[in-house]
Amino acid sequence: MSLQVTPLNNVGVEVSGFDINAPISSDIQARLKALWYEHAILVFRGQDISPEKQIEFSRIFGPLEMHPLASTTSAEYPELFVLENGGDKDKFFTAFYEGEEIVGRLDWHMDLHYTARPNHGALLRAVVVAEEDGLTGFGDLAKAYDALDDDTKALLEKLEVAYSFSMQRRHMRYVNLEGYEPGPYSPKNPTDVGFPDFSDAVYPAVVTHPVSGRKVLEVVEQFLDRVITPQQFGLSNDESIELLERLVAHGKKPDFTYFHDWREGDMVLWDNWRAMHCTTGTKPGIKRVINRTTIEGDITLGRVLKAE
Ligand SMILES: [Fe+2]
Repeated sequence: MSLQVTPLNNVGVEVSGFDINAPISSDIQARLKALWYEHAILVFRGQDISPEKQIEFSRIFGPLEMHPLASTTSAEYPELFVLENGGDKDKFFTAFYEGEEIVGRLDWHMDLHYTARPNHGALLRAVVVAEEDGLTGFGDLAKAYDALDDDTKALLEKLEVAYSFSMQRRHMRYVNLEGYEPGPYSPKNPTDVGFPDFSDAVYPAVVTHPVSGRKVLEVVEQFLDRVITPQQFGLSNDESIELLERLVAHGKKPDFTYFHDWREGDMVLWDNWRAMHCTTGTKPGIKRVINRTTIEGDITLGRVLKAE
């Protein structure tokens, strides 16, 4: 059994040549883990597996984590997080984009980024594929960093960026709000979904990946709020805002992103310490089910900014 590795468009690879239902040798496990660190985004097609197998396979990449949103965790398998569109909860995730009603659209983000301790990664498997839309985007922020010019790289070495958690998309400063309207049931406060009100999280603008040592551009649109004390680094407030706008646009370029159009049985694994992701959402009433397992983040990459 030998693994085949095929590059996707610009980032990530498709991995084939092994049977997920057969025992996976320690050699293959080590190779899979190395590929995860090398490419950040791994796609596996047509894997017909049970939730138990998904949990077992995910453990190759590290201990698994339970997600804080307990309401969407599968009762039977606590490590499994069921993401469902087309069900009763749709109305809470519905908003308007250019007048169109969309369920479950999410801006580019890294999971748990707002806690300063993002999880290490996650594996998604398509159980029910949406008839249309429902794409998941992945962006490689190590490749995005590498492509920056030297002056920007030198400046970023000195800077820190803050992320400010909010339930309300219209309060986020770096997402595209043109044509956006929240839905009538969109949550307004963290307590509406059982969340605490998180303090701001601060990261170096460039984070060194704890395992691979790759430099990662730690600038992601969701919850992005500000550069910390930009004047100390020769930037006016306006210049720091323009810098973040430019970096957000840079990271989203097709050169560094891949949109997965799901087929039944597809699995995608990403390294959440390096890759951001987003979802395009679905039209109301469209059924989509994804089973998700999450690899625990055992390292705090940022710091929590305590209230004075
Ligand atoms: Fe996410």
